[in-house]
Amino acid sequence: MKKFINAKIYRNDEASEILVDDGKIVEIGNSLADADEVIDLDHKLVSAPFVDPHLHLDYVFVAGDGTGEGSGDSKSGTLFEAINRWPEIKKNQTVKDVKERIYKGLYEEMRHGVQAIRTHIDVTDPKFTALKAMLEVREEVKDKVDLQIVSFPQNGMYAFKGGAELVEEGLKMGADCVGGIPHFEWAREFGEKSIHEVVRLAVKYDKLIDVHCDETDDTHSRFVELLNALVLSEGIGKRTTASHTCSFGSADNAYAFRMMDLFKKSGMNFTSQPTENVYLQGRQDSYPKRRGITRVKEFIENGINVCFGQDSINDPWYPLGNGNLMNILDNGIHLAQTMSLPEIHTVLDLITINGAICLNMEDRYGIEAGKPANFIVLDAPNAFEAVRNRSDVLASVRHGEFLFKKKPVAYDVELSL
Ligand code: FE2
Repeated sequence: MKKFINAKIYRNDEASEILVDDGKIVEIGNSLADADEVIDLDHKLVSAPFVDPHLHLDYVFVAGDGTGEGSGDSKSGTLFEAINRWPEIKKNQTVKDVKERIYKGLYEEMRHGVQAIRTHIDVTDPKFTALKAMLEVREEVKDKVDLQIVSFPQNGMYAFKGGAELVEEGLKMGADCVGGIPHFEWAREFGEKSIHEVVRLAVKYDKLIDVHCDETDDTHSRFVELLNALVLSEGIGKRTTASHTCSFGSADNAYAFRMMDLFKKSGMNFTSQPTENVYLQGRQDSYPKRRGITRVKEFIENGINVCFGQDSINDPWYPLGNGNLMNILDNGIHLAQTMSLPEIHTVLDLITINGAICLNMEDRYGIEAGKPANFIVLDAPNAFEAVRNRSDVLASVRHGEFLFKKKPVAYDVELSL
């Protein structure tokens, strides 16, 4: 038995101790039974691990820093230029080098306290180079991080010849979720056809759904409406995620309010990628320039599950990114204006439990008796201070063992005023 004491548990003011046995939480509370080992958490904030619900692990570190090797960023900074350049970059990849980059990406995310990731893997490649690499890594690291793989047609289900069949093959090979990219298809009809195919495949193979949906400022891009209607009819809304939905941030209120009623009915999840989309969107605007993110604040107010993801780490879509979800959260709450004083106390949900709900992993997520002893320790006394300071993650605990642990910054010479 192992006991973690002096914990300030996020959203639990009652308990300060976590008792762990055989990698599982036995009990949380105060003055719990003696244990063989006692670990003092020094009154730091303890949260369930960060969840990144949207990341492209097969793309990480492809761009380089512009001074040496690497494919660089896109000149226009638009989504569509990056997608169109991607085939030239991916054609020379090998399983070995994709795996090396995936591990670098995982290191970046995990050193910041992430323990669950949903990654979109491009399957518009008849050799499935990236998917083979990702499936191997998922198995190799399964004790350290939960990985969900989306069979994702980056270059289109129909814009890429045979794309729909490749998505299906990706599911048979072991992907967990069906992906799609309707706003990239060559006509609205093809985009709609792709949404029908995504839902058909999810039902046929009993898979989750995560669609890159309406990642554009074009208010006529409304594929989220069809996706929601189909999963509502099938009763699989909670197993479905619409990612990005940028155009919904530009839609008029009459449409948006009608749709939000229907999203509530289906229980569909949403992911928003604030740093990525504020960088990519609004590129055709002069001024005023749109922010490019979906209606995060209104989703929260309407009880629609929404979470934040990193999306890219140094790829043609986005030059920066380091897996630090506290940075994503900080950007996201500013852009979404979810920053009233009461809201700040609970916005950590956007990079923790809301992501776990999106991944359908609530049964094994959270600081509760009977669940795996997975949690992180932040360098802050409470959630408000963690958000205000974008606090560092000092430790990540997995099945009761430290994945890493570090000390808070110590000064050689401290500022004195
Ligand atoms: Fe994405």
